[in-house]
Amino acid sequence: MVAKLRIGLAGLGTVGTGVLDLLARNGNEIEARTGKKLEVVAVTARSNSRVRGAHDLSGLVWAENPQALAVHPDVDVLVELIGGEGDPAYSAVKAALAAGKSVVTANKALLAHHGGELARLADANHAGLYFEAAVAGGIPVVKTLREGLAGNQVSRVSGILNGTCNYILTKMADEGRSFDDVLVEAQKLGYAEADPTFDVGGFDAAHKLAVLTALAFGTEPDLKSIEIEGISHVTLEDIRNADAMGYKIKLLGVCADTGDGIEQRVHPMLVRKGSPIGEVDGVFNAAAIHGDFVGDLMLVGRGAGAHPTASAVLSDLCDIARGNRVPAFGVPGAKLKPFRAAPAQTHAGGYYVALDLHDRPGAVAAIAQRLAERNISIESIVQRAPQTAAETAPFILTTHDTQESDMRAALSQIEKDGYAARPPRMIRMERL
Ligand code: HSE
Repeated sequence: MVAKLRIGLAGLGTVGTGVLDLLARNGNEIEARTGKKLEVVAVTARSNSRVRGAHDLSGLVWAENPQALAVHPDVDVLVELIGGEGDPAYSAVKAALAAGKSVVTANKALLAHHGGELARLADANHAGLYFEAAVAGGIPVVKTLREGLAGNQVSRVSGILNGTCNYILTKMADEGRSFDDVLVEAQKLGYAEADPTFDVGGFDAAHKLAVLTALAFGTEPDLKSIEIEGISHVTLEDIRNADAMGYKIKLLGVCADTGDGIEQRVHPMLVRKGSPIGEVDGVFNAAAIHGDFVGDLMLVGRGAGAHPTASAVLSDLCDIARGNRVPAFGVPGAKLKPFRAAPAQTHAGGYYVALDLHDRPGAVAAIAQRLAERNISIESIVQRAPQTAAETAPFILTTHDTQESDMRAALSQIEKDGYAARPPRMIRMERL
């Protein structure tokens, strides 16, 4: 008789149902590949409805709660698809690991907050902690960093890490639709988090970046040092301005070894149309990695949605079925280095600035003066005429590379000068 890997599935939402779909369709191939039959034997979910999609789950064990599922004697491995940094996910994962059971989780918030502690608990109990589905949906970026690039020193990882934001920005640009309208569509498609402010506020991407940083640099995940800015303030006008100048706006997450600590940031950026990252649209995510021996490489794939994320969950389950266990973040939990953050606002790059100017003599000269005082060189300027005498004049500029601290100081001075009707909007430019 073929051996079984008995799965306890906590969470039967979008991804949980995707896992059931995948096992139903590809179960035989997976058995041939791993030598084990992967079978969901027990579940737990907020709703007790026994039918999920095409699946009748009435014959399974329904555990009282995730923690009971984790330690149920019929369960070999816990698949945690509940989400959230705290309980019930946190306690359930700890209970499974403490019982020596491996865990597969898609929970980036949990890992960003407690990744180091959970990795050490897994090591201490000879269990595995796997999380391919936590970062960039179907893209195997965790395995790539942890295993495929294990011979490299990675110096930088950057990418599009939130499918919902990329979908919103793409649809706003291509179809001129409103932010709110596209967000509702992303929710219907199963891309958005239960609370979509995690997506549009940049927090989901930050959770994922914290995990990637730990994998890339062998450090404790350190969410608190990430500079986070979401996409809620990006306007259709910014997207159109960027388009006219040959750019797209993307929410990027970047971690890099600066030589003086590690820089981690998540914010919207202008990227060149036609560049590899500028072509990653819709729900697609991307991770661009630089390793000292491999050089540059980029992975692209669907970053959200039931089936791509289920694909990642199954990658981990197949590893467990085959007996492949590596330390969660590539080095044993006890050897994860304390995180050392680079000084803030040292980012150097170009900047896009949008201003609404009172159409008065001296306005443009004053702006140019403030930039020159900080040694900031202007790359391009566009000023459009106001439609009526009462309106402000839209004024857009981009700069050559400069220090973020200088840019912020210049903009604060420009605001004080009083020529602008609203505070300036600034978006960084990334030359990827
Ligand atoms: N809400 C996430 C996204 C799902 O949009 O990318 C995948 O983590």
